[in-house]
Amino acid sequence: MDLHDGAAYLTHEELIERVRGKQGIIALMPDVIDREVIAAGDDLAVIAVVAVGYNNVDVAAARERGVTVTNTPDVLTEATANLTWALILDITRRISEGDRLVRSGRWRGFAFDFMLGSDLVGKQLGIIGFGRIGQAVAARARAFGMRVAYLSRSVRAASGGRPVEAEPMAIDRLLSTSDVVSLHVPLTPETRHLIDQAALARMKRSAYLINAARGPVVDESALVWALSNGIISGAALDVYEEEPTVHPGLLRLDNVVLAPHLGSSTTETRTAMADLAVRNVVAVLAGEPPLTPVP
Ligand code: NAP
Ligand code: GLV
Repeated sequence: MDLHDGAAYLTHEELIERVRGKQGIIALMPDVIDREVIAAGDDLAVIAVVAVGYNNVDVAAARERGVTVTNTPDVLTEATANLTWALILDITRRISEGDRLVRSGRWRGFAFDFMLGSDLVGKQLGIIGFGRIGQAVAARARAFGMRVAYLSRSVRAASGGRPVEAEPMAIDRLLSTSDVVSLHVPLTPETRHLIDQAALARMKRSAYLINAARGPVVDESALVWALSNGIISGAALDVYEEEPTVHPGLLRLDNVVLAPHLGSSTTETRTAMADLAVRNVVAVLAGEPPLTPVP
């Protein structure tokens, strides 16, 4: 076994060097397992990603070499849906902004019209990507009195869950009618910059954008433009185009909440993810089918 437990990510060259002679890789999200890394692993049989998103792995290159790729779906759905709602509540009720004010010592006490936020009840939550996490986010909307609209190319019932009451919508209508737009698509060539300047311009000026999917689904420069010019009211992000770097324009704005990619980050969920990844490796190396191969 070859364990990397240093704080810094392995470089491309280090990954290539260390994959040689290994049968399995357990990879975290920042590990870029590209064609070159896969080709260097002569004995490689399985790449187990400890995340549900697997855009860091060249799945086509793995398949060409008969290497199985697995991820960790389902076990992180609830934690990520909860984090999404934490972001929605934070940005609409200005909690992080208020926290910064209190810490700065500039809070002058209660005032009737001070730091007014926005109610959720009776409003529309638009979900882009209606899979496991999108549906879990939708299921919580009822508790806040919101109706749900969604965009998806196909809808599968979330595993074990009850179907969620929600209206399918084309993207333009979803963007122009939703009060909160929450992104839950995987990062693919089709979803990269799905939310660009034109998409942001379609949203209501009073609307909020939430991204707990992948950073590059949103064009960050366009988002800075939209937030700076009142095109939308606010945004709450868990993910960024170039993690851990955050667009400097976002850092200067008060109408954006910036979380450091915390979606699945609870002790229970991360333990379940690690356990599932290990069980996938053990299964493949024992000649058994993987538990959760990527589709
Ligand atoms: P999932 O069950 O596969 O759901 C993704 C959904 O997006 C599917 O319903 C899929 O529908 C839809 N979709 C894909 N491409 C689309 C497109 N171009 N237009 C509209 N819909 C599209 O995955 P999940 O478990 O919910 O996870 C979703 C993503 O969340 C992951 O890929 C990951 O990137 C992100 N994530 C982030 C965190 C975090 O820490 N912030 C944690 C967990 C997950 P089709 O059937 O049409 O493909
Ligand atoms: C986290 O970002 C994941 O995809 O699991």
